[in-house]
Amino acid sequence: MTRPPARRADELRASGIAEMMRLAAQTPGAIRLEVGEPDQPTPSHIVAAAFAAARDGFTRYTPAPGLPSLREALARKIAEHNGLPTTPEQVVATSGSVFALSAAMLAVLDPGDEALVPDPGWPNYRSALHLIGARAVGYPLVREAGYEPDLEALRRLVGPRTRALVVNSPSNPTGAVFAPATVRALVELAAEHDLAVISDEVYEEFVYEGAHHSPAAFDRDGRVITIYGFSKTYAMTGWRLGYARATPAVAAAMGRIAEAMTGCPSSVAQKAAEAALAGPRAEVDAMRARYRRHRDLVAATLGEAGLLAAVPRGAFYALVDLAHIEADSTTLARRLLHEQGVATAPGETFGPSARGMVRISLATEGRQLEEGCRRIIRFAQGAADAGATGGR
Ligand SMILES: Cc1ncc(COP(=O)(O)O)c(C=O)c1O
Repeated sequence: MTRPPARRADELRASGIAEMMRLAAQTPGAIRLEVGEPDQPTPSHIVAAAFAAARDGFTRYTPAPGLPSLREALARKIAEHNGLPTTPEQVVATSGSVFALSAAMLAVLDPGDEALVPDPGWPNYRSALHLIGARAVGYPLVREAGYEPDLEALRRLVGPRTRALVVNSPSNPTGAVFAPATVRALVELAAEHDLAVISDEVYEEFVYEGAHHSPAAFDRDGRVITIYGFSKTYAMTGWRLGYARATPAVAAAMGRIAEAMTGCPSSVAQKAAEAALAGPRAEVDAMRARYRRHRDLVAATLGEAGLLAAVPRGAFYALVDLAHIEADSTTLARRLLHEQGVATAPGETFGPSARGMVRISLATEGRQLEEGCRRIIRFAQGAADAGATGGR
């Protein structure tokens, strides 16, 4: 008899996205709209820098919070690009922004504490909180308000154990980009209740309408931890490199947490990141322009068909509303794959408010995306026709 896994590990579920990836891989010719990653390769100058670093023997452990040269470059990037004065001591490089998020949570939450997370929101917030023994409390993003948060509802959810507020704009899966007044109000609410703000800004570069506003810009007392990444900006998902900006004390704590849990970020990926920061931005601009075209395509097809929950203003996702066909989004995603050969992520994996929806990624080759949208419309049409026939 083997020992069962510990309770927290046992309770941890793979996300609905991983499950659909598995099913899609077994479906020949499936159109893959379920995965949230750029479909293009990492720009060649970044790959060349990593190759040179590896060839030159740059293959050893680095300091846990990252190479001093990288932390300097990141502090410069945050100061110049994000407009936030930043010293290298305020920056920590991490193994993906996934780990920056966990390290931030570990730095500000004790077991039994609560954190407010967006609903719908990226499922990893909930799983990371579960693993560290904290409790996730979903706060509503309101569809009719372009998926901005309901601040009064949010305020009512703050309890005696609430210690942190997770914010994600531009947002996965809604594509919302919060207005500056909303961002300011979130920071003020956090200040009123003495909460840390963990602001996930991995989609900072992908805004199609309006502008990206960071909670840190409104932060007077060092309560905001900002999470950035290389995965989406530079098409580097497999390199596993992210970074965070916090107060020197919190950044130092995150460095100690990294030492305990990952040792350090990959040395070669750190050199690749330095090249990404120093190199041309043309490819980032080209990616943004491409995703914008895809956003427009989705608005003109699914949007026109009345199937979009909201027209995305940022990030590279859209929520497709099929609730009139079926409320259970896992069933919807499975039916879309079996009946139309198109893989999507079930809405409920992002929270109960995305029931009856599926998420599609716009970071997909244009013709595939177009065909995928056509099939989703055909699916909705077929279901409507079947309903009409069945009713007769
Ligand atoms: C909102 C959000 N935050 C963080 C991440 C993780 O990014 P990374 O690859 O840098 O760990 C993702 C990836 O899908 C994401 O959607």
